[in-house]
Amino acid sequence: MEIKKIFVVGAGQMGNGIAQVSTQAGYDTVIYDITQELVDKGVNIIKKNLERNVAKGKMSADEQAAILGRLKATTTLEDAADADLVIEAIIENFDIKKEVFEKLDQITPPHAILATNTSSLPITQIAACTKRPEKVIGMHFMNPVPVMKLVEIIRGLATSDEVYQIVEETSIKMGKVPVWCKDVPGFVSNRVLQVMINEALWELYEGVAPAENIDNIMKLGMNHPMGPCALADLIGLDTVLAILNVMYTGYGDPKYRPSPLLKQYVQAGWLGRKTGKGIYDYSNQ
Ligand code: CAA
Repeated sequence: MEIKKIFVVGAGQMGNGIAQVSTQAGYDTVIYDITQELVDKGVNIIKKNLERNVAKGKMSADEQAAILGRLKATTTLEDAADADLVIEAIIENFDIKKEVFEKLDQITPPHAILATNTSSLPITQIAACTKRPEKVIGMHFMNPVPVMKLVEIIRGLATSDEVYQIVEETSIKMGKVPVWCKDVPGFVSNRVLQVMINEALWELYEGVAPAENIDNIMKLGMNHPMGPCALADLIGLDTVLAILNVMYTGYGDPKYRPSPLLKQYVQAGWLGRKTGKGIYDYSNQ
């Protein structure tokens, strides 16, 4: 089966990045969100990213126009009726994802693949919300999507070999490097990453060092491009907490228990870059 049209559910920081790499790869791409404001915000970020590439001489104005010509925006989920591949990138909440996958199963043609960008929720459980579990798969992109090379591919219990191969080829066409792993809570990426971020938040809670010092130690000592506190703010502290909770529940192991400070930041609505405040303050940016 050839993928021609990709429908991205969610125009937030992951969704707009996925839509960008999809349309850049030559796919007819539709970006969806529940309000016009959210869709416009996502499309504007894509436009700004492409404009920056033109200004840097990485892309011609004609290429930019062609890329944007392949991108459509909608607030109507029914527009997924002719999609070959749907990539869902909405909030990390199983009940909301369940509702969306049940609807997509009704709306999309029988051949369509339903992928989820979930960071940690079980692919097998999401697949079971549909009547096509063999066509459901995890396609886990990294933030910022236009820059990061990895797509972690997670097969549910029922995912077919054919669907896996198509998704692998599509990821490569998007300029990414697909790497597979099994369907376990947190997959490979977040099982390693979020434990490090959580430990940094425990250190902050215990007053071991200020955030700047924790980040500098990891940047200068371990050559990480950004420290765990800055990275948590980039990912979103609500997402970090949601992933830790999935692993804490999924494995029943106290090593995944979220730092009380992380919970408090989320309660305060200090979610990171997206809200202008998280562990750091971004109000002047
Ligand atoms: N969108 C598009 N492009 C972006 C971008 C964004 N949000 N942020 C940075 N870039 C581009 C810049 O335009 C720049 O492009 P050029 O090379 O063409 O000039 C390039 O990326 C480098 O950016 P900067 O020079 O501004 O900054 P940097 O060198 O410090 O890189 C970074 C920024 C790429 C974010 C880097 O700090 C980094 O790699 N950080 C770690 C990111 C990471 O670990 N991501 C994974 C998070 S986990 C996840 O996403 C999954 C999950 O489930 C939680």
